[in-house]
This record gives sequence, C-alpha cells and structure tokens, in this order.
Amino acid sequence: MRYAIISDVHSNLEALEEVMKDIGKQNINQILCAGDIVGYCANPQQCLEVIRSLNIITIAGNHDQAACEKLDPLFFREEGKKAIYWAQKQLRKSDLDFLSGLELTYKNNDLIMAHGSLDEPDRFFYLFDITNAITTFELMDRIICFVGHTHIPQIFVREGKRSFLSDSLNITLQAGCKYLVNVGSVGQPRDNLPLASYCIYDKDNKTVEIRRVPYDINATQMKILEANLPEMLARRLAIGQ
Ligand SMILES: [Fe+2]
Repeated sequence: MRYAIISDVHSNLEALEEVMKDIGKQNINQILCAGDIVGYCANPQQCLEVIRSLNIITIAGNHDQAACEKLDPLFFREEGKKAIYWAQKQLRKSDLDFLSGLELTYKNNDLIMAHGSLDEPDRFFYLFDITNAITTFELMDRIICFVGHTHIPQIFVREGKRSFLSDSLNITLQAGCKYLVNVGSVGQPRDNLPLASYCIYDKDNKTVEIRRVPYDINATQMKILEANLPEMLARRLAIGQ
C-alpha cells in the first residue's frame, strides 16, 4: 500500500497540479490531504474541485474552517484574514458545505492524520519542535501520524522514551519506533525552499519520503496580484517563506 499525503495547498492551483502529476508517476493507491485547501492564493474553488474529484481523503485545516465560518479568523495575520474573506466570496455553497463537513482527524489501520496536532485538534497547535511533538506521540495508537500546518517538512521520531528530529526526510521505519511526519506545504512552503512539498508513505516497504516539486511560481503570483490579494502573499512564494 502506497500513500501520498499532501497538505496546505492554500488555493495554489499551479503547485497542486504539478504535485498531482508527480503523484501520478509514483504508483500511489490512496491520496490523503491534511487540510488547508483554501486561503492565501487565488484559486480556492479550483483547488477544491481537484481535491473533490480525485477521491482524496481530506480533513479540515484552520483556514478551511475559517472559510466556512466554523472558526473565527480573529487570530489570523492581516493578509491571511483578507485572503479568507476573499475566498468566501469565490466559493459556492456546495464548496462551503464540503469544507464544513470535514472532520479534524482521520485514522485507518496504517496511520493517523491531523492538521496541527492530535491533542485538541480543534485548537490547531503548531508542532515546530520536539517539545510540542511529545503530547501527540503519547496520543498515537498507530506507528505513524501525518500533520501539516507549519508548512515545514519535518520527521519526529520516538524511540522508547527518547524523541528526536530526524536528520533525513527520506527514511526507513525501524521496529519499535513511532513517527510523526510533517509533510510540508504544497502551496506555500516556508522552509526557504520554494518548491511544493508532499510525502509518500510506503506501508509495506516501511519507507517515508518527502518529495519536492517545482511549479510555475510566477503564474501563481500574477493571479494573487490580479485578485488584489496582499502583495506579500505573492512575494513570499518566491523565497519559500
Ligand atoms: Fe496552512
């Protein structure tokens, strides 16, 4: 069984399409999405259409919940808030209903998925470092959990009572360990590498790989500017921030 896990598409259609092309070449059995389909960039409706048409198992991110008014974007930064209010005007009722129906976590026999963390998933905590990751490790009843939200691809490992950040983003799972994998962001990577990020989990071969995919950043930036969304949302894509 080979899974592709995407997250934080954030209405970036060019990045999503390139990632889907790459996934198409990887013998994937099931695609999962860890939330934040909308927000920031200028194609919320088109990205939702892609996600909905491909039978992708999807959970809600904070931007998805803000778009369908399940969450107050009060604590979003100004440009994030503007993009959400703009997206609300673009989306059809069926899109908003779809977002509103998304659960906060997903679990099957092989894996768990949440947008931010497993503890109080409706509060969307950020797992930036190993200290924040420990509570989620303690709640994991599967060997692997996938998250997004920080837009930074990272793999945390728990071995007995010891937890650490993996040096590599391309690993083989070891018996007795648990793994918390941040798959990074398709549409707005923030690790100074302006390439779309996603993850492949091969359950049978016990491998996890973060893949990076180039896309037409210029086209995405032009759409953001044409939509009169904050210029900073276009600029940051070029530097992966
Ligand atoms: Fe996000």
